[in-house]
Amino acid sequence: MILRQLRDTEADTEAVREISRAAFSALTPGSTRRPTEAEDVFQRARAGHLATSDPQGCWLALQDGVPIGFALSARRESLWLLALTAVLPEYQGNGVGRLLLERTLEHGRGCLRGMITVSVDPRAARRYRKAGFTLHPTMKLSGQVDRSALLDAGELPVHRGTTGHLHLLDSIDRRLRDAAHGVDHGLMLRHYEELLVVDTMTGTGYCYRDGGTIKLLAATSRHMAARLLREALARVPEGTEAKVEWITAEQEWAVDVGLDLGLTVENRGYLALRGMRPPAPYLPSGGFL
Ligand SMILES: CC(C)(COP(=O)(O)OP(=O)(O)OC[C@H]1O[C@@H](n2cnc3c(N)ncnc32)[C@H](O)[C@@H]1OP(=O)(O)O)[C@@H](O)C(=O)NCCC(=O)NCCS
Repeated sequence: MILRQLRDTEADTEAVREISRAAFSALTPGSTRRPTEAEDVFQRARAGHLATSDPQGCWLALQDGVPIGFALSARRESLWLLALTAVLPEYQGNGVGRLLLERTLEHGRGCLRGMITVSVDPRAARRYRKAGFTLHPTMKLSGQVDRSALLDAGELPVHRGTTGHLHLLDSIDRRLRDAAHGVDHGLMLRHYEELLVVDTMTGTGYCYRDGGTIKLLAATSRHMAARLLREALARVPEGTEAKVEWITAEQEWAVDVGLDLGLTVENRGYLALRGMRPPAPYLPSGGFL
């Protein structure tokens, strides 16, 4: 088995997509849900984007020339993040994941903080704890938004974000997690349905929504974060299932918003952190954290 850096090529990004699909399908054997075409497109675009922005943070494992695993990581200012890693089911449990993680952690040397959104796979939780990350159990909210519960919401002057807001978004992130998302906003703006921005005398925040999924939310206070989440959930099209993930107990404001709007809460996965507490008026995205 050899490890080499991932490249932004058709073959490598397709290998990421295929390994990812096989590894995650095996995690939920009874499920008939398959990634949508848009999710596949995003998956490949993100792999190419990170291979370009962080060539030393993105690795492919090959057995006899055939890709069997990968890990995608990035350094954003003082924060190292693992965007995704997976190994083909038939090769799991043999140390491939550990070798890939070691390479990506090398890339993160010098970063004071680290963040990973962790799947339900116990192998993943074990790997990250062994690497020194604190595992914060997370909750997921899902279901249909109760429209009648939206009626008493106060007006929040939200508008659609554009590339003109990038400095504002980076400032909010630096305040919350000491690191901006920087170049990742370009990809999120291209692939996610909408960016919502609120900038008032009492607080500032932003949120990406894609269909029913709240992808990333950051605000200057919990109060503003709760109002923004409510606003984003109100925009989920009727009939589409809403989904908010990676909520730790420190983001109880999000649980309260979800319960008020009729969503169901359940536990799922972890937020693995190093050198930091969960940023509170914040919901990480699985994609860019
Ligand atoms: C998570 C993943 C990338 C790890 O890769 P891997 O090659 O299986 O990892 P490793 O073999 O290096 O490590 C797995 C560890 O879990 C242990 N393990 C194996 N099967 C296990 C199980 N069923 N339950 C708990 N631990 C298990 C192994 O013993 C090993 O620990 P050790 O090295 O301390 O002995 C891979 O299993 C995977 O693709 N999972 C599905 C996709 C996923 O969840 N990705 C992570 C997203 S955060």
